[in-house]
Amino acid sequence: MTYSVAVSGASGYAGGEILRILAAHPDVEIRTVTAHSNAGQPLIQHQPHLRSLAHLTLHDTTSDVLAGHDIVFLALPHGQSGQYTDALADTPLVIDAGADHRLESIADWDRFYGGDFHDPWTYGVPELVVGGAKQRRRLVGASRIAAPGCNASTVSLSLAPGVAAGVIDPGDIVSVLAVGPSGAGKSLKTNLLASEILGSANPYAVGGTHRHIPEIRQALAAARGTEDDSADEGIRISFTPVIVPMARGILATSTAQIAADATDADIRGAWEAAYGDETFVQLLPEGEFPRTADVLGANTALIGLAIDRAANRVVVVAAVDNLVKGTAGAAVQSMNIALGLPEARALPVNGIAP
Ligand SMILES: NC(=O)c1ccc[n+]([C@@H]2O[C@H](COP(=O)([O-])OP(=O)(O)OC[C@H]3O[C@@H](n4cnc5c(N)ncnc54)[C@H](OP(=O)(O)O)[C@@H]3O)[C@@H](O)[C@H]2O)c1
Repeated sequence: MTYSVAVSGASGYAGGEILRILAAHPDVEIRTVTAHSNAGQPLIQHQPHLRSLAHLTLHDTTSDVLAGHDIVFLALPHGQSGQYTDALADTPLVIDAGADHRLESIADWDRFYGGDFHDPWTYGVPELVVGGAKQRRRLVGASRIAAPGCNASTVSLSLAPGVAAGVIDPGDIVSVLAVGPSGAGKSLKTNLLASEILGSANPYAVGGTHRHIPEIRQALAAARGTEDDSADEGIRISFTPVIVPMARGILATSTAQIAADATDADIRGAWEAAYGDETFVQLLPEGEFPRTADVLGANTALIGLAIDRAANRVVVVAAVDNLVKGTAGAAVQSMNIALGLPEARALPVNGIAP
């Protein structure tokens, strides 16, 4: 069977990356691409690297244009996806790359985003430890999927094994991330001009204000909890992203206090048990730590783990391509699982180097 697909936000970074991956997917036909201010223009004008899709024209993003496909990807600014939910009621599978359907807590949505709250959809991070199982179990047969925030999934994947195994204290987590500016999208912003970021490292959303914080707390609560997920009470994270001059990539350094009585073997064993059999989330050998360059273009999260007994902290360094494993790759991987296709289909495990 070939599934017909519409991709909205197709002129943007996330939509473009979804298209790049789907263009190599044997089970889908990319039938429709939509945009907003650039509607009416050829897709190739905005995504000149997508040569095999040069025949497509960007349509306006309306319910009518999106309806009638087997699968719809929404890659719109947050707050824009919810308006299409009702109109797409008959669409078998809808995957939102935006934040509109990620959060379970209305209070968190109001505090960090604002505007209308929309129901949470199945979270699209298959490898996430959830209670005693993996999130992929919930994605089988799912019809509505919320792809993750790139920073959020990087930090959640970094720490969930330790939280689930009880070897770190989820009440004392510190994450500092080096992030590329593509994470903020393609639209023009003064603080993202080359002259502002080249040769500089620029912190932003410092002091507990970043929108991905509640998403991380929610994921870690699920890691700690049962299938019903327990509340994120007691999960505290200090989260500081720093924009660095690389187009794409996230290097997240997360540290957490070691739980009383946890041995080194318990700690490393928790991450080995979680990711030992995974294709796209890989724990590096002891003493090795990833670079963002190793995962560029790949649907792979690489994780290095250190145990700092002097500081009594576990240190987890994770490298992810924000546009692949952080968004589009996670979305397509979740699509594969939902449809019962091989999970890794069309998804690169190898990066581009140098
Ligand atoms: N960038 C990342 O690394 C990343 C990672 C995870 C999740 N996401 C999420 O993915 C979504 C898209 O992000 P992005 O980085 O791709 O942003 P982007 O590059 O700015 O692209 C935004 C896209 O949405 C379209 N658009 C803008 N306003 C719209 C509206 N009112 N109605 C319909 N379409 C509209 C734009 O069309 P025009 O160009 O025609 O204006 C463009 O195609 C966001 O929700 C973001 O949080 C992004």
